[in-house]
Amino acid sequence: MIEFKNVSASYDGELAVLNDVSFTVNDGDFVAFVGTNGAGKSTTMRLANGLLKPTAGEVLVDGVPTTALKTSELARRIGFLFQNPDRQICCNTVREELLFGFKALGEEGPAAEARVDAIIERFGFDATAEPYLLNRGTRQLLALASIIVLAPPTIILDEPTTGLDFRECVKVMEVVRELNEGGTTVVMVCHDMEVVGDFARRVIAMTAGRVVADGATFDVLRDGRVLKEAHILPPQVTEVSLMLGREEGCPRAVAAANTVPQMVQALAAARGVEATTVEVEAIG
Ligand SMILES: Nc1ncnc2c1ncn2[C@@H]1O[C@H](COP(=O)(O)OP(=O)(O)OP(=O)(O)O)[C@@H](O)[C@H]1O
Ligand SMILES: [Mg+2]
Repeated sequence: MIEFKNVSASYDGELAVLNDVSFTVNDGDFVAFVGTNGAGKSTTMRLANGLLKPTAGEVLVDGVPTTALKTSELARRIGFLFQNPDRQICCNTVREELLFGFKALGEEGPAAEARVDAIIERFGFDATAEPYLLNRGTRQLLALASIIVLAPPTIILDEPTTGLDFRECVKVMEVVRELNEGGTTVVMVCHDMEVVGDFARRVIAMTAGRVVADGATFDVLRDGRVLKEAHILPPQVTEVSLMLGREEGCPRAVAAANTVPQMVQALAAARGVEATTVEVEAIG
C-alpha cells in the first residue's frame, strides 16, 4: 500500500512542484496518473519510490514513511520503470541486465539464475544480445522484465508505452495486465487515454502539482470539469458516447458506452437488432 498524506515537494527547496497531494493506492490496484506535461506525475512517482523526499506531509509504503526505509528495502517493495528505459539499462548482455537487480540486492545464486532463465524464455529474449542494439520496444520490454524478475509486490511505470508502436504497446501492456491479475499492484503514468481506458481501473488526474480527480477510470474520463482542468481527451469511443449522450432521446446504453463492443451492442439495441458475435468480436 502506498499512502500520500498532504504531500508537498520541491526540487530546489523553494518552488513547490507538488501541493498538498493525498491519495492511497491499495494492494492489487491498477491506477493511472494522467495530466499535462509538468503536472507533477513523475515527481509523484519519485516520491512513491523514495528517490525524492517530501518537504511537507508524509509518503508511507506499507505503513512506513519512505524517510525511514532503506533504498534496498524500497527496491524490494517497489519496482520502478523510468520514463526512459535507457536510463535503466547498464549491462552488456540481456542476461547480465536481468541479473543486475539481484546483484544490487546481494541475492545472486541459483534461484536468481533460474528466475532470469525463466523470464528470458517467457519474453523470448536472446540472452547474449547487447541491450543497446535492441529496438525501442524490446529495450522497453527488457527494462520491464528486469524489474518484474525481482517479483516486487508493486510496480510503478512512468509512461511505459511512449514511443512504442501499437504492437509493442499491446505486448508491454498485456504483460502488465497479467501481473496485475496475479496480484501485483500497478501504478502507471500514461498520456494515452486509449491505454488508460483499456487497462486501468482507477485514474488520478493531476494539474499544476495538485490532484484534481481520483476515481473509477470512466467516472473520471467522463467528467467534463476534470477533462478541462487536466487538459485531457477521453478515449474516442467515450468521446463519441459523451457527444451522442447530449442529444435528446439518445438511448441510455449509447450515452454510457465506454468500449467499442459496448457501443456496437448499444447501437444494435437501438436499431432493434442484436449485435452479432462476429461484429463484436471482430472489433473487440
Ligand atoms: N529534476 C528536476 N529539477 C527541477 N525541477 C524539476 C525536475 N524534474 C521536474 N521538475 C519540474 O517539476 C514540475 C513537475 O515535473 P514532472 O516531471 O513531475 O511532471 P510530469 O507530470 O511528469 O510531466 P511530463 O508529462 O512532461 O513527464 C515541472 O515544473 C518540472 O519542470
Ligand atoms: Mg513525467
